Order: sequence, then C-alpha cells, then structure tokens
Amino acid sequence: MATEHTVLFSADVIAENVAELAARIDRDHSDDGVVVIVVMKGAAIFASDLVRAMATETELAYLTASSYVDGFTPGETLSLSGDLDLDVGDRDVLIVDDIIDTGRTLAELSTMVAAHGPRRVATVALVSKTSRRSPDAEPDYHGLEISDEFIYGYGLDWDERYRDLPFIALANP
Ligand code: IMP
Ligand code: MG
Repeated sequence: MATEHTVLFSADVIAENVAELAARIDRDHSDDGVVVIVVMKGAAIFASDLVRAMATETELAYLTASSYVDGFTPGETLSLSGDLDLDVGDRDVLIVDDIIDTGRTLAELSTMVAAHGPRRVATVALVSKTSRRSPDAEPDYHGLEISDEFIYGYGLDWDERYRDLPFIALANP
C-alpha cells in the first residue's frame, strides 16, 4: 500500500548537505584518518553516504544507542551496545548521528569516548533539532535544521518504520 509522505528534505538536498559536511570534515582532519563511530540505527544511512563522500581515511565502528521509550518520547536512560571495546587511544574520533535533539545522546557518547584517550572527539549530525537544546550541547558539524518537528526517512525511523526512504519527511504535518 502506498503511503503519502510530506517531503521536508529531498534526496537532492540531503546529498548536497552530505557533500558539504564531508568537505568541511576533510578540511579539519589530517592524513592519519579518523575513527568514525556510527550511532545505530538512525545514522547508518547518513554515515554510509558521509564516509564515501569524505577523502579522509576512516575506520568504522558501530554503537547502538537508544533513549526513546516509544516512537516519540525520549526516555530517561541511554542504553548502549556494539563496538564498545574500540581502541581510540591517540586517534581522531568522529561520532555520527542522524539527528541531534536535546543533545544528550552525542554528549554522553562524547564523554564516554573521551575517557579512552583519543586525540580529539568531534560530533556530526545531519539534522539539528534546535528547539530543545542547551547551547553547550551543539554538535561540531550539522547540516540541516528543524525546530520541533518529528521527522523520518533517510535512516530516521517513525516507530522503526520508513528508515529506507531516500528523503526526509514530516510526521503529522
Ligand atoms: P537527543 O539525545 O535528545 O539529542 O536525541 C537524539 C536521538 O533521538 C537521535 O539519535 C534519534 O535517534 C532520536 N530522534 C530525535 N528526534 C527525532 C525525530 O524527529 N525522528 C526520529 N528520531 C529522532
Ligand atoms: Mg538515534
């Protein structure tokens, strides 16, 4: 059955943003390469496009972080699993998420990674949801901006659905 989606960011707009982010990240990273930590599952598709657009050599790691108790509501605890034994000592690390909302996911992950002695930790989110965030939790890089909408597609889910859409759509427009 075909579902009607309200497209907010088209595949072309997303691709332009990914290319710009990749170029900026390349400018800031040296020839030593970067350990890219992909925050599953939402960032899987964005990160796949991003690392292929970057010239910087990357080593990929995958962590699952979830804080949503249902499809919409942020929960109290962030649960983590995946490549937790990753060696980031003296390396540049880039943590990649699909969207930053309150900033808690990226802040907690950055703190966790920083405890393992990397040379540098940076964060990138394709989309920044600006309305609920404290100013000290800004990502180092972000592409697109929204206010308080719930969006899905291009990796982002609406209750585990629609991650496979090539565009980003607005729920309940
Ligand atoms: P934060 O910890 O509040 O910054 O939340 C970030 C996480 O919440 C992201 O990794 C997403 O998984 C999820 N999230 C926040 N807003 C949305 C949305 O509009 N659609 C889908 N997932 C979202
Ligand atoms: Mg997420």
